[in-house]
Amino acid sequence: MAESVDRYAVFGNPIEHSKSPFIHTRFAEQTGQRLVYTAELIELDDFENAVARFADNNGKGLNITVPFKQAAWQLAHTCSARAQRAGAVNTLVINGKDDYFGDNTDGIGLTRDLTINYRLQLKDKHILIVGAGGAVRGVIEPILATEPASLTIANRTREKALQLAQDFADLGAIRGCGLDEFGDHPYDVVINGTSASLSGDLPTLPQSLIDKDTFCYDMMYATVATPFMRWAQQHGAAKVADGKGMLVEQAAESFRIWRGCRPDTAPVIEALRKQ
Ligand code: ATR
Repeated sequence: MAESVDRYAVFGNPIEHSKSPFIHTRFAEQTGQRLVYTAELIELDDFENAVARFADNNGKGLNITVPFKQAAWQLAHTCSARAQRAGAVNTLVINGKDDYFGDNTDGIGLTRDLTINYRLQLKDKHILIVGAGGAVRGVIEPILATEPASLTIANRTREKALQLAQDFADLGAIRGCGLDEFGDHPYDVVINGTSASLSGDLPTLPQSLIDKDTFCYDMMYATVATPFMRWAQQHGAAKVADGKGMLVEQAAESFRIWRGCRPDTAPVIEALRKQ
């Protein structure tokens, strides 16, 4: 009976281009799990009520995307340590109407994509992340856990980068700076964590950031290469990647938290790329 099927969804605004229903439906098929996963457009002032309605309607778990990750963190009754540190929740486990557990799988999604799918070693590397918004806050702890030689957070609004670096300073070698303070040397890994790609923009970056050994990664993705990816390609980066692998990996970690089994991500990443 349809009513008894466990329901999952992604809540966001906007939401129409979400790939999460596609991804989780593939995971469910692959692991033989019976569930329904939908994308729901949530009005900006209706987040809390929408979660409660979903919980009432056999909702077992949610992915949370822009702009509700912080609201989800505030709403969760308990949180994982990584979500607590990030101050943002992208995965809610609904144990009951007044029992929401919050987690954040964005960071593990990024590090798994880099280290497992792209076989990139981050230990002892010099890593630059451009951007200091919610998306970047969620990935700092797992990146520092890989023990890079240094992690630089550079942002258009310099103060936000300095604040982020200060918030995570106890976890490793991290510094914040403005977009004109990179230092005159290439990095091993450059990650674009700004939302600029969404509007077809590119942060103003000097060419000296990259050389022929630099791995460039855009946490965003689009059907075509993002402006950051094109910029990196034009300046001879060793490898340029978009965030589709991160998207599938964070989804797999959410799926594992909800259903207790980890799906195989490789065929789903491939299917997503073919779309
Ligand atoms: P998200 O949750 O996706 O990170 P956010 O918290 O609004 O969204 O953060 C957006 C990030 O992208 C910020 O670091 C922002 O820089 P500012 O802090 O200076 O606003 C960055 N950003 C967005 N558009 C940009 C652009 N055109 N050039 C440079 N940085 C940009």
